[in-house]
Amino acid sequence: MNEPCALVIFGSTGNLARNKLLPALYHLEAAGQLAGPTRILGFGRRNWSDGDWQAEVERALAERARGGLDPEVLRRLAARLQFVSGDLTEPEAFVRLRERLRGDGGMPVNRVFYLAVAPSHYGEVAELLAAEGLNDQSDGWSRLVVEKPFGFDLESAQILDERLHRRFGEDQIYRIDHYLGKSTVQNVLVFRFANLMLEPLWNRNYIDHVQISHGEARGIEERAGFYDGVGAMRDMIQSHLLQMLTLVAMEPPPSLDAEALRDEKVKVLRSIRPIPRQAVHAHAFRAQYRAGELKGAKVPGYLEEPGVGHNSATETYAALKLYIDNWRWRNVPFYLRTGKRLAATNSLIAIRFKHPPQQLFRHTAIEQLEPNWLLLNIQPNECMRVEIQVKQPGLQMRTQTERLDASTCTLGSSQIDAYEALILDVIEGDHSLFLRYDEVNWAWRVVDPVLKLWATERDFIQTYSAGTWGPGEANRLFDRDDQDWRNGLDG
Ligand SMILES: NC(=O)c1ccc[n+]([C@@H]2O[C@H](COP(=O)([O-])OP(=O)(O)OC[C@H]3O[C@@H](n4cnc5c(N)ncnc54)[C@H](OP(=O)(O)O)[C@@H]3O)[C@@H](O)[C@H]2O)c1
Repeated sequence: MNEPCALVIFGSTGNLARNKLLPALYHLEAAGQLAGPTRILGFGRRNWSDGDWQAEVERALAERARGGLDPEVLRRLAARLQFVSGDLTEPEAFVRLRERLRGDGGMPVNRVFYLAVAPSHYGEVAELLAAEGLNDQSDGWSRLVVEKPFGFDLESAQILDERLHRRFGEDQIYRIDHYLGKSTVQNVLVFRFANLMLEPLWNRNYIDHVQISHGEARGIEERAGFYDGVGAMRDMIQSHLLQMLTLVAMEPPPSLDAEALRDEKVKVLRSIRPIPRQAVHAHAFRAQYRAGELKGAKVPGYLEEPGVGHNSATETYAALKLYIDNWRWRNVPFYLRTGKRLAATNSLIAIRFKHPPQQLFRHTAIEQLEPNWLLLNIQPNECMRVEIQVKQPGLQMRTQTERLDASTCTLGSSQIDAYEALILDVIEGDHSLFLRYDEVNWAWRVVDPVLKLWATERDFIQTYSAGTWGPGEANRLFDRDDQDWRNGLDG
């Protein structure tokens, strides 16, 4: 059993806490993964008692507990819940927090501070915690979990990192990218490094290109305050999609320990060919959704969403072409793409292989051979699929695409949520699935030239109809006419 701790959630009334953290803690409770004395403290501006917070948590969990709420699990979880009322910017609130953390004899000495608040608060909260000695590790450990986005660009990430490091050591900081907690994403490592047969194919000699995409059918919902001005490139590509790229492209690490793994990921990011300002339009594309139709219902355009400025040029769709200048990947394009209000919600890594070197079937009825694809679907269905060519039954020599599906296809609904795995890793002190600062820094360096140019071009942005797969103009990123986006497992 892992060590007991006091887990403090800043932003306990927010979207992330309600939708992800509290359900994850409930499921960890159900799985018996929380040590007996572990406590969960909500920190927030509401004037709530412990009982009010427990009732709120129950409400939040009612719709989100897998398989329905189990009263016994809820009872055990509720016994751990306490609430500390206060404003994040108020030093006295941190005095109250310290008293709560030190006052009760049953309170564990180990602490996790989860910053589920806007990134603009991270530095200040770290300083206020330190002012009360809550960063001190002489009695037990003290860990700080920060959510993405880590910074707004390269410069602000650097400033934030220096600010956090003045109070917390690198070993205390856990920078979350929840995509790394998804089991299919981790499966990329297993798939690559536990199956020798792939290794000879995994390079520029056999792979034509790689696509990494994350599409969402939903719009920005109530999150204009966060999203407008941030946009798709920062929200998805700088973090999740570049992380997936590192897992696809990295060399085998000498071991799976956190430092070895992260060293290899950083090497990939450092090897990405920088995009000079004059080449930004050849490598990057952005657009914004306009009103459209999704599953038969009319949906508003981005500019009509509540809280969005009427002339906002924030991109809700972004695509990026990258090259990794190393021995393995030189000149293999990696296409990254994300969008909101697309035709469906799906995250996919799609690897297209080259055509066979000789067209042996030229003089048969086969018009054109389809290339092989390897598809790693991340969500909503976790699936691995290989598309191969086989002969059609019958007298003529014709081919058809057959799909070999790995059995993980059927596991989807019972999979644990990424936040369960990640919270457990924080408690266990395992940094493997968290970002080291140099990863964040190099990821910002990749997208920074694009963001800088886009920031100067605010007068016009391409649009696409909500409910489609985005603008056709994004195809201009492809190196060749026979390359096209894969929108999901089936096409
Ligand atoms: N939501 C997600 O799915 C998601 C996914 C990935 C990353 N993130 C990141 O997670 C963080 C939180 O996102 P979110 O969507 O949960 O935001 P949110 O719904 O806006 O919640 C923000 C939380 O911060 C609290 N807060 C704001 N100012 C405060 C203050 N002065 N004193 C005390 N509490 C204060 C709010 O409390 P009140 O209720 O009192 O306003 C609320 O609980 C952000 O960094 C976001 O980028 C979120």
